Amino acid sequence: MLYMKAKSQFVCQQCGASYVKWVGQCSNCGAWNSLVEQVVENTGVGAKSALAKGAVSGKKLDYVKIATIVPSDAKARLLTEFKDLNTVLGGGILMGSVSLLAGQPGMGKSTILMQICATVAKTHNVLYVSGEESAGQVKLRAVRLGADSDRLSFAASTSANDIAKTIETGEFDLVIVDSIQTLAMDEISSAPGTVSQVTNCGNLIIRAAKSTDTAVVIVGHVTKDGTLAGPKVLEHLVDVVLNFEGDRYGGFKTVRAVKNRFGSTNEVAIFEMGEKGLKEVANPSAALLAERTNTDGSIILATLEGNRPILVEIQALATKSNYGYPKRTASGFDLNRLNLLIAVLERRTKLRLSEQDIFVNVVGGMKLNDSAADLAVCMAIASAVAGRKLSDEYVVFGEVGLGGEIRSAFRSDQRIAEAKKLGFSHAIGPATIKDKFVIPVKDLRETLIRYVK
Ligand code: TYD
Ligand code: MG
Repeated sequence: MLYMKAKSQFVCQQCGASYVKWVGQCSNCGAWNSLVEQVVENTGVGAKSALAKGAVSGKKLDYVKIATIVPSDAKARLLTEFKDLNTVLGGGILMGSVSLLAGQPGMGKSTILMQICATVAKTHNVLYVSGEESAGQVKLRAVRLGADSDRLSFAASTSANDIAKTIETGEFDLVIVDSIQTLAMDEISSAPGTVSQVTNCGNLIIRAAKSTDTAVVIVGHVTKDGTLAGPKVLEHLVDVVLNFEGDRYGGFKTVRAVKNRFGSTNEVAIFEMGEKGLKEVANPSAALLAERTNTDGSIILATLEGNRPILVEIQALATKSNYGYPKRTASGFDLNRLNLLIAVLERRTKLRLSEQDIFVNVVGGMKLNDSAADLAVCMAIASAVAGRKLSDEYVVFGEVGLGGEIRSAFRSDQRIAEAKKLGFSHAIGPATIKDKFVIPVKDLRETLIRYVK
Protein backbone atom coordinates (compact mmCIF):
# COMPACT_ATOMS: atom_id res chain seq x y z
CA MET A 1 0.00 0.00 0.00
CA LEU A 2 1.42 3.34 -1.02
CA TYR A 3 -0.25 5.52 1.51
CA MET A 4 -3.05 5.29 4.08
CA LYS A 5 -6.07 7.40 3.38
CA ALA A 6 -6.87 9.61 6.37
CA LYS A 7 -9.84 8.25 8.32
CA SER A 8 -11.10 11.70 9.13
CA GLN A 9 -10.94 15.13 7.59
CA PHE A 10 -11.70 18.65 8.73
CA VAL A 11 -14.48 20.39 6.86
CA CYS A 12 -15.23 24.09 6.98
CA GLN A 13 -18.87 24.46 8.03
CA GLN A 14 -19.14 27.74 6.13
CA CYS A 15 -17.86 26.88 2.66
CA GLY A 16 -17.26 23.12 2.69
CA ALA A 17 -13.51 23.19 2.02
CA SER A 18 -11.76 20.19 3.53
CA TYR A 19 -8.36 19.90 5.21
CA VAL A 20 -6.22 17.05 6.43
CA LYS A 21 -5.25 18.96 9.56
CA TRP A 22 -7.17 21.32 11.77
CA VAL A 23 -6.42 25.01 11.23
CA GLY A 24 -7.86 28.03 13.02
CA GLN A 25 -8.91 29.87 9.90
CA CYS A 26 -10.29 28.45 6.68
CA SER A 27 -7.98 29.64 3.93
CA ASN A 28 -10.73 29.27 1.36
CA CYS A 29 -13.42 31.52 2.81
CA GLY A 30 -11.60 33.16 5.72
CA ALA A 31 -14.02 31.98 8.45
CA TRP A 32 -12.50 31.51 11.88
CA ASN A 33 -12.94 28.38 13.94
CA SER A 34 -15.29 26.82 11.42
CA LEU A 35 -13.55 23.48 10.85
CA VAL A 36 -15.21 20.35 12.14
CA GLU A 37 -13.75 16.87 12.10
CA GLN A 38 -15.70 14.36 10.04
CA VAL A 39 -15.28 10.66 9.42
CA VAL A 40 -14.49 9.72 5.85
CA GLU A 41 -16.66 6.72 5.09
CA ASN A 42 -15.98 6.36 1.40
CA THR A 43 -12.34 6.22 0.36
CA GLY A 44 -13.21 8.25 -2.69
CA VAL A 45 -11.75 5.95 -5.34
CA GLY A 46 -15.04 4.38 -6.44
CA ALA A 47 -16.91 7.66 -6.31
CA LYS A 48 -14.36 9.44 -8.45
CA SER A 49 -14.27 6.91 -11.27
CA ALA A 50 -18.03 6.68 -11.33
CA LEU A 51 -18.24 10.41 -11.86
CA ALA A 52 -15.65 10.32 -14.60
CA LYS A 53 -17.58 7.71 -16.55
CA GLY A 54 -20.87 9.50 -16.02
CA ALA A 55 -22.25 6.34 -14.42
CA VAL A 56 -23.72 6.19 -10.93
CA SER A 57 -22.83 3.46 -8.46
CA GLY A 58 -26.22 3.38 -6.63
CA LYS A 59 -29.17 1.13 -7.40
CA LYS A 60 -32.75 1.99 -8.15
CA LEU A 61 -34.81 3.02 -5.11
CA ASP A 62 -37.43 0.66 -3.69
CA TYR A 63 -40.35 3.01 -3.88
CA VAL A 64 -43.90 2.26 -2.74
CA LYS A 65 -47.28 3.87 -3.30
CA ILE A 66 -48.00 6.46 -0.60
CA ALA A 67 -51.46 4.95 -0.17
CA THR A 68 -50.01 1.62 0.91
CA ILE A 69 -47.65 3.01 3.59
CA VAL A 70 -48.60 2.42 7.22
CA PRO A 71 -48.35 5.80 8.96
CA SER A 72 -45.72 5.85 11.67
CA ASP A 73 -48.32 7.29 14.01
CA ALA A 74 -50.11 3.96 13.89
CA LYS A 75 -47.17 2.37 15.69
CA ALA A 76 -47.33 1.63 19.37
CA ARG A 77 -46.52 4.33 21.87
CA LEU A 78 -44.90 3.84 25.24
CA LEU A 79 -46.84 5.69 27.92
CA THR A 80 -45.10 7.44 30.79
CA GLU A 81 -46.75 7.92 34.17
CA PHE A 82 -47.01 11.64 33.41
CA LYS A 83 -50.25 12.57 31.67
CA ASP A 84 -49.12 15.96 30.43
CA LEU A 85 -45.75 14.66 29.30
CA ASN A 86 -47.54 12.05 27.18
CA THR A 87 -49.46 14.89 25.56
CA VAL A 88 -46.23 16.82 24.95
CA LEU A 89 -44.83 13.72 23.25
CA GLY A 90 -47.92 13.51 21.05
CA GLY A 91 -49.41 10.58 22.96
CA GLY A 92 -46.38 8.83 24.47
CA ILE A 93 -42.97 7.79 23.19
CA LEU A 94 -43.33 6.42 19.67
CA MET A 95 -41.59 3.10 18.97
CA GLY A 96 -38.56 3.67 16.74
CA SER A 97 -38.40 7.37 17.55
CA VAL A 98 -35.29 9.09 18.83
CA SER A 99 -35.83 11.94 21.27
CA LEU A 100 -33.39 14.41 22.76
CA LEU A 101 -34.01 15.63 26.30
CA ALA A 102 -32.02 18.84 26.64
CA GLY A 103 -31.52 20.79 29.83
CA GLN A 104 -29.01 22.29 32.22
CA PRO A 105 -27.09 19.96 34.52
CA GLY A 106 -29.01 19.34 37.74
CA MET A 107 -32.40 20.07 36.18
CA GLY A 108 -33.66 16.53 36.78
CA LYS A 109 -33.10 14.84 33.43
CA SER A 110 -31.77 11.59 34.89
CA THR A 111 -34.55 11.65 37.46
CA ILE A 112 -37.42 12.01 35.02
CA LEU A 113 -35.93 9.37 32.72
CA MET A 114 -35.60 6.88 35.55
CA GLN A 115 -39.24 7.55 36.42
CA ILE A 116 -40.21 6.96 32.80
CA CYS A 117 -38.16 3.73 32.82
CA ALA A 118 -39.93 2.58 35.97
CA THR A 119 -43.32 2.87 34.28
CA VAL A 120 -42.39 1.54 30.86
CA ALA A 121 -40.45 -1.41 32.33
CA LYS A 122 -43.64 -2.77 33.85
CA THR A 123 -44.60 -3.98 30.37
CA HIS A 124 -41.52 -3.57 28.15
CA ASN A 125 -37.78 -4.26 28.15
CA VAL A 126 -35.88 -1.13 29.04
CA LEU A 127 -32.15 -0.38 29.13
CA TYR A 128 -30.66 2.61 30.92
CA VAL A 129 -27.14 3.40 29.71
CA SER A 130 -25.16 5.92 31.71
CA GLY A 131 -21.79 7.36 30.87
CA GLU A 132 -21.91 9.66 33.87
CA GLU A 133 -22.84 7.57 36.85
CA SER A 134 -21.84 4.18 38.19
CA ALA A 135 -24.26 1.29 38.62
CA GLY A 136 -24.29 1.96 42.38
CA GLN A 137 -25.31 5.58 41.96
CA VAL A 138 -28.03 4.76 39.48
CA LYS A 139 -29.33 2.02 41.75
CA LEU A 140 -29.69 4.52 44.60
CA ARG A 141 -31.82 6.73 42.42
CA ALA A 142 -33.82 3.77 41.10
CA VAL A 143 -34.62 2.66 44.65
CA ARG A 144 -35.65 6.16 45.63
CA LEU A 145 -37.95 6.38 42.63
CA GLY A 146 -39.36 2.90 43.05
CA ALA A 147 -37.95 1.50 39.81
CA ASP A 148 -37.57 -2.20 40.59
CA SER A 149 -38.93 -4.03 37.56
CA ASP A 150 -37.20 -7.17 36.33
CA ARG A 151 -37.39 -5.82 32.82
CA LEU A 152 -35.24 -2.77 33.58
CA SER A 153 -31.51 -3.20 32.91
CA PHE A 154 -28.52 -0.95 33.38
CA ALA A 155 -25.17 -0.59 31.61
CA ALA A 156 -22.34 1.86 32.18
CA SER A 157 -20.73 2.81 28.89
CA THR A 158 -19.28 5.72 26.98
CA SER A 159 -18.85 3.86 23.71
CA ALA A 160 -21.33 4.86 21.02
CA ASN A 161 -20.35 1.77 19.03
CA ASP A 162 -21.22 -0.57 21.88
CA ILE A 163 -24.47 1.22 22.59
CA ALA A 164 -25.52 1.12 18.93
CA LYS A 165 -24.63 -2.59 18.75
CA THR A 166 -26.76 -3.27 21.83
CA ILE A 167 -29.69 -1.35 20.38
CA GLU A 168 -29.31 -3.31 17.15
CA THR A 169 -29.90 -6.60 18.94
CA GLY A 170 -33.52 -5.47 19.27
CA GLU A 171 -33.70 -6.86 22.81
CA PHE A 172 -34.97 -3.59 24.21
CA ASP A 173 -38.07 -1.54 23.45
CA LEU A 174 -36.73 1.59 25.10
CA VAL A 175 -33.10 2.65 25.58
CA ILE A 176 -32.00 5.70 27.54
CA VAL A 177 -28.59 7.22 26.76
CA ASP A 178 -27.37 9.53 29.52
CA SER A 179 -25.67 11.64 28.17
CA ILE A 180 -24.56 12.32 24.58
CA GLN A 181 -21.69 14.49 25.87
CA THR A 182 -19.96 11.52 27.45
CA LEU A 183 -20.07 9.34 24.34
CA ALA A 184 -17.22 8.71 21.92
CA MET A 185 -16.92 6.75 18.71
CA ASP A 186 -13.85 4.59 18.09
CA GLU A 187 -13.31 6.05 14.61
CA ILE A 188 -12.99 9.67 15.79
CA SER A 189 -10.10 11.02 17.75
CA SER A 190 -11.65 14.23 19.08
CA ALA A 191 -12.80 14.49 22.68
CA PRO A 192 -16.30 13.51 23.85
CA GLY A 193 -18.74 16.40 23.63
CA THR A 194 -17.24 17.96 20.52
CA VAL A 195 -19.46 18.61 17.54
CA SER A 196 -18.02 15.76 15.49
CA GLN A 197 -18.38 13.22 18.30
CA VAL A 198 -21.91 14.35 19.10
CA THR A 199 -23.05 14.29 15.46
CA ASN A 200 -21.47 10.98 14.58
CA CYS A 201 -22.42 9.21 17.82
CA GLY A 202 -25.93 10.59 17.39
CA ASN A 203 -26.15 9.29 13.84
CA LEU A 204 -24.88 5.87 14.81
CA ILE A 205 -27.45 5.51 17.58
CA ILE A 206 -30.28 6.86 15.40
CA ARG A 207 -29.49 4.35 12.66
CA ALA A 208 -29.52 1.49 15.15
CA ALA A 209 -32.81 2.69 16.65
CA LYS A 210 -34.52 2.95 13.26
CA SER A 211 -33.30 -0.43 12.10
CA THR A 212 -34.86 -2.24 15.05
CA ASP A 213 -37.78 0.08 15.85
CA THR A 214 -36.35 0.77 19.29
CA ALA A 215 -37.40 3.96 21.07
CA VAL A 216 -34.37 5.91 22.26
CA VAL A 217 -34.12 8.93 24.52
CA ILE A 218 -30.80 10.77 24.51
CA VAL A 219 -29.86 13.23 27.23
CA GLY A 220 -28.06 16.41 26.22
CA HIS A 221 -26.68 18.98 28.63
CA VAL A 222 -26.95 22.63 27.70
CA THR A 223 -25.44 25.64 29.41
CA LYS A 224 -27.51 28.35 31.03
CA ASP A 225 -28.01 30.27 27.78
CA GLY A 226 -28.57 27.03 25.87
CA THR A 227 -25.60 27.64 23.63
CA LEU A 228 -23.53 24.49 23.94
CA ALA A 229 -22.99 23.30 20.39
CA GLY A 230 -23.43 19.59 21.07
CA PRO A 231 -27.21 19.29 21.56
CA LYS A 232 -27.86 22.03 19.00
CA VAL A 233 -26.41 19.96 16.15
CA LEU A 234 -28.32 16.92 17.40
CA GLU A 235 -31.60 18.79 17.12
CA HIS A 236 -31.62 18.36 13.37
CA LEU A 237 -31.03 14.63 13.55
CA VAL A 238 -33.56 13.46 16.11
CA ASP A 239 -37.35 13.19 15.81
CA VAL A 240 -38.30 14.94 19.02
CA VAL A 241 -36.50 17.64 20.99
CA LEU A 242 -37.70 18.18 24.53
CA ASN A 243 -36.47 21.21 26.44
CA PHE A 244 -36.33 20.86 30.20
CA GLU A 245 -36.29 24.34 31.68
CA GLY A 246 -36.88 26.17 34.89
CA ASP A 247 -35.30 26.84 38.21
CA ARG A 248 -32.76 24.24 39.22
CA TYR A 249 -33.33 24.89 42.90
CA GLY A 250 -37.03 24.64 43.65
CA GLY A 251 -39.72 26.30 41.61
CA PHE A 252 -41.45 24.88 38.58
CA LYS A 253 -39.76 23.07 35.77
CA THR A 254 -41.33 22.78 32.36
CA VAL A 255 -40.89 20.21 29.63
CA ARG A 256 -41.95 21.30 26.18
CA ALA A 257 -41.32 19.96 22.70
CA VAL A 258 -39.46 22.45 20.54
CA LYS A 259 -39.54 19.93 17.73
CA ASN A 260 -41.84 16.95 17.32
CA ARG A 261 -42.21 14.98 14.13
CA PHE A 262 -45.15 13.09 15.61
CA GLY A 263 -47.09 15.73 17.51
CA SER A 264 -47.73 19.38 18.23
CA THR A 265 -45.17 21.68 19.81
CA ASN A 266 -47.76 23.70 21.71
CA GLU A 267 -48.08 21.51 24.75
CA VAL A 268 -46.22 21.81 28.01
CA ALA A 269 -45.83 19.68 31.12
CA ILE A 270 -45.13 21.40 34.41
CA PHE A 271 -43.19 19.60 37.15
CA GLU A 272 -42.05 20.05 40.67
CA MET A 273 -39.11 18.17 42.22
CA GLY A 274 -39.89 16.37 45.45
CA GLU A 275 -38.56 13.64 47.73
CA LYS A 276 -39.64 10.93 45.34
CA GLY A 277 -38.64 12.54 42.08
CA LEU A 278 -40.63 14.77 39.79
CA LYS A 279 -44.36 15.26 40.08
CA GLU A 280 -46.70 16.92 37.61
CA VAL A 281 -48.33 20.06 38.95
CA ALA A 282 -52.06 19.67 38.42
CA ASN A 283 -53.10 23.26 39.11
CA PRO A 284 -50.11 25.53 38.50
CA SER A 285 -52.06 28.79 38.78
CA ALA A 286 -53.22 28.04 42.30
CA ALA A 287 -49.74 26.94 43.36
CA LEU A 288 -48.13 30.02 41.83
CA LEU A 289 -50.52 32.39 43.57
CA ALA A 290 -50.53 30.63 46.94
CA GLU A 291 -47.75 32.71 48.47
CA ARG A 292 -48.75 36.02 47.01
CA THR A 293 -49.02 39.18 49.13
CA ASN A 294 -50.43 42.14 47.30
CA THR A 295 -47.73 44.78 47.53
CA ASP A 296 -46.88 47.51 45.10
CA GLY A 297 -45.07 46.18 42.05
CA SER A 298 -47.09 42.97 42.01
CA ILE A 299 -49.46 42.21 39.13
CA ILE A 300 -51.19 38.95 38.18
CA LEU A 301 -50.82 38.12 34.53
CA ALA A 302 -53.11 35.74 32.67
CA THR A 303 -50.71 34.05 30.32
CA LEU A 304 -50.35 30.85 28.34
CA GLU A 305 -47.77 28.12 28.66
CA GLY A 306 -48.13 26.35 25.36
CA ASN A 307 -51.83 25.60 25.16
CA ARG A 308 -52.41 25.95 28.89
CA PRO A 309 -53.66 29.11 30.51
CA ILE A 310 -51.75 30.03 33.66
CA LEU A 311 -51.91 32.89 36.12
CA VAL A 312 -48.51 34.11 37.26
CA GLU A 313 -47.38 36.94 39.43
CA ILE A 314 -45.12 39.55 37.87
CA GLN A 315 -43.06 41.48 40.38
CA ALA A 316 -41.20 44.70 39.77
CA LEU A 317 -38.90 46.60 42.06
CA ALA A 318 -37.55 50.09 41.46
CA THR A 319 -34.74 51.71 43.40
CA LYS A 320 -32.78 54.88 42.81
CA SER A 321 -29.66 54.27 40.70
CA ASN A 322 -26.37 54.86 42.39
CA TYR A 323 -24.55 55.25 39.13
CA GLY A 324 -25.21 57.35 36.08
CA TYR A 325 -26.36 54.35 34.13
CA PRO A 326 -29.57 52.73 35.42
CA LYS A 327 -29.62 48.97 35.76
CA ARG A 328 -32.37 46.77 34.33
CA THR A 329 -32.65 43.12 35.28
CA ALA A 330 -35.25 40.59 34.18
CA SER A 331 -35.73 37.06 35.37
CA GLY A 332 -38.16 34.95 33.36
CA PHE A 333 -38.75 37.79 30.92
CA ASP A 334 -36.82 38.95 27.88
CA LEU A 335 -34.45 41.79 28.79
CA ASN A 336 -34.69 43.48 25.39
CA ARG A 337 -38.45 43.50 25.66
CA LEU A 338 -38.15 45.00 29.15
CA ASN A 339 -35.93 47.81 27.86
CA LEU A 340 -38.40 48.49 25.08
CA LEU A 341 -41.33 48.65 27.52
CA ILE A 342 -39.38 50.99 29.78
CA ALA A 343 -38.80 53.28 26.80
CA VAL A 344 -42.52 53.19 25.99
CA LEU A 345 -43.38 53.97 29.62
CA GLU A 346 -41.01 56.96 29.66
CA ARG A 347 -42.20 58.36 26.36
CA ARG A 348 -45.94 57.68 26.55
CA THR A 349 -46.66 58.18 30.24
CA LYS A 350 -45.27 60.69 32.68
CA LEU A 351 -43.18 58.19 34.59
CA ARG A 352 -39.51 59.14 35.06
CA LEU A 353 -37.43 56.00 34.94
CA SER A 354 -34.01 57.21 33.79
CA GLU A 355 -32.68 57.33 37.35
CA GLN A 356 -34.30 54.13 38.54
CA ASP A 357 -32.80 50.66 38.67
CA ILE A 358 -35.59 48.32 37.62
CA PHE A 359 -35.86 44.63 38.41
CA VAL A 360 -38.59 42.41 37.01
CA ASN A 361 -39.22 38.89 38.22
CA VAL A 362 -41.66 36.23 37.10
CA VAL A 363 -42.54 34.23 40.20
CA GLY A 364 -42.09 30.45 40.30
CA GLY A 365 -39.27 30.08 37.79
CA MET A 366 -41.63 30.46 34.82
CA LYS A 367 -40.13 31.78 31.59
CA LEU A 368 -42.58 33.97 29.72
CA ASN A 369 -42.76 33.94 25.98
CA ASP A 370 -46.04 35.75 25.52
CA SER A 371 -46.44 39.20 24.01
CA ALA A 372 -49.57 39.69 26.11
CA ALA A 373 -47.31 39.90 29.17
CA ASP A 374 -46.39 43.50 28.20
CA LEU A 375 -49.25 45.25 29.94
CA ALA A 376 -48.70 43.36 33.19
CA VAL A 377 -44.97 44.17 33.15
CA CYS A 378 -45.67 47.87 32.47
CA MET A 379 -48.25 48.00 35.25
CA ALA A 380 -45.91 46.25 37.67
CA ILE A 381 -43.16 48.77 36.93
CA ALA A 382 -45.54 51.73 37.24
CA SER A 383 -46.92 50.31 40.46
CA ALA A 384 -43.43 49.83 41.91
CA VAL A 385 -42.23 53.30 40.91
CA ALA A 386 -45.34 55.09 42.13
CA GLY A 387 -45.68 52.91 45.24
CA ARG A 388 -49.31 52.17 44.38
CA LYS A 389 -51.21 48.93 44.04
CA LEU A 390 -53.66 47.33 41.68
CA SER A 391 -56.75 45.85 43.30
CA ASP A 392 -56.18 42.12 43.89
CA GLU A 393 -59.48 41.38 42.20
CA TYR A 394 -57.88 41.93 38.81
CA VAL A 395 -55.76 39.95 36.39
CA VAL A 396 -54.07 41.67 33.46
CA PHE A 397 -53.14 40.80 29.89
CA GLY A 398 -52.50 42.62 26.62
CA GLU A 399 -49.69 43.57 24.30
CA VAL A 400 -48.30 47.12 24.47
CA GLY A 401 -47.42 48.85 21.20
CA LEU A 402 -44.73 51.48 20.77
CA GLY A 403 -47.38 54.19 20.77
CA GLY A 404 -48.54 53.09 24.21
CA GLU A 405 -51.65 51.47 22.73
CA ILE A 406 -52.98 48.21 24.15
CA ARG A 407 -53.23 45.51 21.50
CA SER A 408 -55.19 42.32 21.36
CA ALA A 409 -54.00 39.01 22.79
CA PHE A 410 -54.53 35.57 21.32
CA ARG A 411 -56.69 32.98 23.10
CA SER A 412 -58.21 35.56 25.41
CA ASP A 413 -61.16 33.30 26.24
CA GLN A 414 -58.81 30.73 27.77
CA ARG A 415 -57.12 33.41 29.86
CA ILE A 416 -60.50 34.69 31.04
CA ALA A 417 -61.71 31.21 31.93
CA GLU A 418 -58.62 30.55 34.07
CA ALA A 419 -59.03 33.89 35.90
CA LYS A 420 -62.69 33.13 36.60
CA LYS A 421 -61.79 29.68 37.86
CA LEU A 422 -59.39 31.15 40.40
CA GLY A 423 -61.92 33.65 41.69
CA PHE A 424 -60.84 36.94 40.12
CA SER A 425 -63.64 39.39 39.44
CA HIS A 426 -62.25 41.13 36.38
CA ALA A 427 -59.48 41.20 33.81
CA ILE A 428 -57.90 44.37 32.52
CA GLY A 429 -57.37 43.68 28.86
CA PRO A 430 -57.51 44.87 25.26
CA ALA A 431 -60.66 46.74 24.23
CA THR A 432 -61.17 44.41 21.28
CA ILE A 433 -62.49 41.71 23.62
CA LYS A 434 -66.24 41.77 24.05
CA ASP A 435 -66.74 40.07 27.39
CA LYS A 436 -68.26 41.51 30.54
CA PHE A 437 -65.41 40.06 32.59
CA VAL A 438 -62.89 42.26 30.79
CA ILE A 439 -62.44 45.92 31.64
CA PRO A 440 -61.46 47.21 28.19
CA VAL A 441 -58.42 49.48 27.97
CA LYS A 442 -56.96 51.21 24.93
CA ASP A 443 -54.09 53.31 26.16
CA LEU A 444 -51.27 52.62 28.61
CA ARG A 445 -51.26 56.05 30.28
CA GLU A 446 -54.99 56.05 30.87
CA THR A 447 -54.83 52.50 32.27
CA LEU A 448 -52.13 53.44 34.76
CA ILE A 449 -53.94 56.58 35.92
CA ARG A 450 -57.20 54.75 36.35
CA TYR A 451 -56.22 51.43 37.88
CA VAL A 452 -52.86 51.73 39.63
CA LYS A 453 -53.69 53.64 42.78
P1 TYD B 1 -30.61 14.82 38.20
O1 TYD B 1 -31.77 14.07 37.64
O2 TYD B 1 -29.40 14.02 38.48
O3 TYD B 1 -30.25 16.03 37.21
P2 TYD B 1 -29.58 15.97 35.74
O4 TYD B 1 -29.56 14.56 35.28
O5 TYD B 1 -30.47 16.86 34.89
O6 TYD B 1 -28.22 16.55 35.84
O7 TYD B 1 -31.09 15.50 39.57
C1 TYD B 1 -31.36 16.83 39.79
C2 TYD B 1 -31.49 17.17 41.24
O8 TYD B 1 -32.66 16.63 41.77
C3 TYD B 1 -30.35 16.69 42.10
O9 TYD B 1 -29.75 17.82 42.68
C4 TYD B 1 -31.00 15.86 43.17
C5 TYD B 1 -32.46 16.21 43.10
N1 TYD B 1 -33.40 15.12 43.40
C6 TYD B 1 -34.46 15.33 44.26
O10 TYD B 1 -34.63 16.42 44.81
N2 TYD B 1 -35.35 14.30 44.50
C7 TYD B 1 -35.21 13.08 43.93
O11 TYD B 1 -36.04 12.18 44.15
C8 TYD B 1 -34.10 12.86 43.03
C9 TYD B 1 -33.88 11.54 42.36
C10 TYD B 1 -33.23 13.91 42.78
MG1 MG C 1 -27.85 13.31 35.02
